[in-house]
Amino acid sequence: MSGGTELALEGLSRRYGSTVAVARMDLAVAPGELVALLGPSGCGKTTTLRMVAGFVEPSGGRILLRGRDITSMPAHKRDTGMVFQSYALFPHLSVAENIAFGLHRRGVPKAEVAHRVARMVALLKLDGLEARLPRQLSGGQQQRVAVGRALVINPAVVLLDEPFSNLDALLREGTRIELRRLQTELGLTTLFVTHDQAEAMAISDRIAVMNQGRLEQLGTPREIYDRPATRFVAGFIGRANLFDAKPGAAGGLISEDGIPLEAAGAATYVLRPERIVLDDAPAEGPNAAAGSIEVLSFLGTGVQAVLRLSGGRALLVEGPASLADRFRPGAAATARWTAADLTAIPAP
Ligand SMILES: Nc1ncnc2c1ncn2[C@@H]1O[C@H](COP(=O)(O)OP(=O)(O)OP(=O)(O)O)[C@@H](O)[C@H]1O
Ligand SMILES: [Mg+2]
Repeated sequence: MSGGTELALEGLSRRYGSTVAVARMDLAVAPGELVALLGPSGCGKTTTLRMVAGFVEPSGGRILLRGRDITSMPAHKRDTGMVFQSYALFPHLSVAENIAFGLHRRGVPKAEVAHRVARMVALLKLDGLEARLPRQLSGGQQQRVAVGRALVINPAVVLLDEPFSNLDALLREGTRIELRRLQTELGLTTLFVTHDQAEAMAISDRIAVMNQGRLEQLGTPREIYDRPATRFVAGFIGRANLFDAKPGAAGGLISEDGIPLEAAGAATYVLRPERIVLDDAPAEGPNAAAGSIEVLSFLGTGVQAVLRLSGGRALLVEGPASLADRFRPGAAATARWTAADLTAIPAP
C-alpha cells in the first residue's frame, strides 16, 4: 500500500423515493487497499458498490478515481471489475471463456490470456472445470468464476459484493485467504461487501461499518474492535456487554442494573466477553457480578458462557476450554473484570 487516494467517495448519496439507501458517504481508499463495507441487510452496501461501478446513479455527491471525477462516466468506461451479489455469469460460455471474457475484449494476446486464465483457475481451485458451463457448476463454483472474471483484467478498482456467500465455511475461509493473498500481491484496490463481521476482520486493511445508509465508523479491524465509536458498532463487531455507567447513590459509578463499576467516568462502556474471568468466590466491590451459568457452549478453541445475573442481565463470557471442567450449567459463578477492560463509547 502506498500513500495517496485511489478511490474517493465524497458525500455520496442515493435515495429511492423516501428511502435513503446511502446518506452522504465519505470514503477514501488508498492504492492497493482492501476496504470492507460491512453492515446489516439493507444498510446500503450494494447501492454504494453499484454507484462506484456506474450501475446506479447517485442522488448527490461525487466519485473520484485517481483524482478524476467519474460520477457521470458510463459503467463500461470505468476501470472497475465487479462481482455482483447474484454472480451473473454468461450462461453460454464455459468457465475458461467466462474468465477470459474481459481480456479478449481488451485485446490481450491469446497466449497471455491462456496464462492469466490458468492462473485464476488454479488460484480459485477451479481446476478440471474449465470447459463446463455455468449451469453445470455449484453455486460456490459459479461465485469463484465470477471472482476470477473480475480480477483477471487487473482493474483499477475491484468491487466484490458478497462474493463468497454461497461457499461452505471451510471453502469460504480458504478462498478468502487466497483472495487476500492475490489482492495484496497484485496491489488491487478493493471494495469488499459483506455482512459477515468475521470475514471483514479477516481480510480487510480497513472496515467501513454502515448502518441505515450511514457510515458509522471507518478503521482497521483492531481499531473497530478495540475502540468502537457507537453502540451499534460495538454490538455488530464481535460480542459486547454494554454498561451505562452513572454516578451511584453511595458514590462511585453504577450500571443501569445496579452493578458497581470502577471506570473512568459516567459513560457507556463495552466489556468484551473474553476480558471476563469467572470464579466461584463471592462478588465484592466494583467490577464483579454474581449469577448462575445458563448456557455453556464448547467452541473448540474455547468456551462461551451465558451468566444470568440476579438483576436479570445475561452476561456473555468467553474463556478457555477448561471453564467447562470447572463449571456446569446451573452452577453459581462470579464474573470479574478490571477498569482497563471497560472501553468507553464516545457520547453521540
Ligand atoms: N432499486 C431500488 N428501489 C427501491 N429501493 C431500493 C432499490 N435498491 C435498494 N433499495 C433500498 O435501499 C436500501 C439499501 O439497499 P442495498 O441493496 O444497498 O442494501 P445492502 O446493504 O446491500 O443489503 P443486503 O445485505 O441485504 O444485500 C434498502 O432499504 C433497499 O430496500
Ligand atoms: Mg447487498
